Amino acid sequence: MPFRTFSRRQFGRIAGWSALGMSVLPAGSGLAQSSRENAAAGARNSSGFPKGFLWGTATSSYQIEGAVKEDGRGPSIWDSFTHTSGTISDKSNGDIAADHYHRYKEDVQLMKALGTRAYRFSIAWPRVFPDGVGTPNPKGLDFYNRLLDELLANGIEPFATLYHWDLPQALQDRHGGWTSRETSKAFADYSGYVAQRLGDRVKHFFTINECSRMVQLGHGLGADAPGLKLPQAGINQVRHNVALGHGLAVQAIRAHARAGTRVGPAENAVSCVPAFETPANVRAAEMATRELNAGYLTVMLEGKYTDAYLTHAGKDAPQFTPDELRVISTPVDFVGLNVYTPDHYVIAADNGPGYTLAPFPSSFPHMKASWLRPGPEAMYWSPRNVAKLWNVKSIYITENGTSSTDKPAPDGNIYDLDRVMYLRNYLTQLQRVTAEGVPVQGYFLWSLIDNFEWGDGYEQRFGIYHVDFETRRRTPKLSAAFYRETIAKNAVV
Ligand code: NOJ
Repeated sequence: MPFRTFSRRQFGRIAGWSALGMSVLPAGSGLAQSSRENAAAGARNSSGFPKGFLWGTATSSYQIEGAVKEDGRGPSIWDSFTHTSGTISDKSNGDIAADHYHRYKEDVQLMKALGTRAYRFSIAWPRVFPDGVGTPNPKGLDFYNRLLDELLANGIEPFATLYHWDLPQALQDRHGGWTSRETSKAFADYSGYVAQRLGDRVKHFFTINECSRMVQLGHGLGADAPGLKLPQAGINQVRHNVALGHGLAVQAIRAHARAGTRVGPAENAVSCVPAFETPANVRAAEMATRELNAGYLTVMLEGKYTDAYLTHAGKDAPQFTPDELRVISTPVDFVGLNVYTPDHYVIAADNGPGYTLAPFPSSFPHMKASWLRPGPEAMYWSPRNVAKLWNVKSIYITENGTSSTDKPAPDGNIYDLDRVMYLRNYLTQLQRVTAEGVPVQGYFLWSLIDNFEWGDGYEQRFGIYHVDFETRRRTPKLSAAFYRETIAKNAVV
């Protein structure tokens, strides 16, 4: 039976995965023992990951949930943006998306079938506070209560992101969104409330997902919601307000969650890879990492903007107080890194900054998405540079993955070999960095299921399960079988 016929009833008997070289293991049979043996083998051979390494998948609320008008959810800036003409390549929106709001139980079974033990999802602020602030909407929070209970009942640990870009529209209208510190404060209030209500089951919170993209694409280029094209001073102020929102949220979570709750950012840090490994290039890549993340990780982890950042900004520098810098740099428990592509290959140079960023030749390859240049070494250097520069003791890879054309073959299966190739190469570098003792504790593959890819609508599919957006049916791709085998062996396969 081809694996496209995978359905809810077939969990535990993953028909068709055997056709892809996967063993078919009835639930509760030898699976547990066989994965223990595999894990032990993984730990022994050179492609193995540390014992207890946390394997997971990631998604976000607006990209998968749908149900945008259900149970009292208020509108978000992404609802407004997608319903503005000319914003999304295929003119689609997240109104229904993958309908996860109604199918979350099925989706938890997809995670379980992979053998993942962790799941990173995001909470839609406008479900919890439809107006951004004020009276909470209990029905909105209840969805996450149901999801958490389902995850835990299936042995999957929830990792919750508090902001994955779906700002309540009311805050955009009232204060200009992140152009105002009022939004930073409202974010802290919402975060504290959620931490208090869900903190009995959520032990790990991420504050803001990819500050740099939401600042640049949302407020500079107008390509993401809220679609602003601010002048440089405005962009720099938004960046500061977002960092402040992160810091205030860390404090609010600490004040309201149970003791032992861990919190940190999930950032797409600008990844700087030495063009080739010489001591000078390695050092240059470290310096570039610090400078090119100055408004994000650097200020969060050092409590100051670098001199070069402020000099470069000149009269456009953000307004800030020493106290705000202290808030922004409130100590975090871990750093989450979204790693997709090397942003820069770095060469040591005898110039002002001490490095040159090599331009990419036009022949440099890319995956289906033109921005996604494969450079697996980013998976080594991103966490390694962050750990080295700031002495970070705990890192999660909060996203990694790629889109693919994902067309079913004549036999109905989706042989996403480019995704398997991409993942295998990145995981090889992840294995290397963990083997060298860099404290990466877990990996969340983006994404569990195909979903709404922002400005690219449904034209870029990142899931390892295919979603038919007519029927919402989920079907594992070859990469799902690959990931399942990787997890079972705790090693690159
Ligand atoms: C990072 C973002 O966090 C996520 O929302 C997006 O879908 C992926 N990158 C792929 O572009």
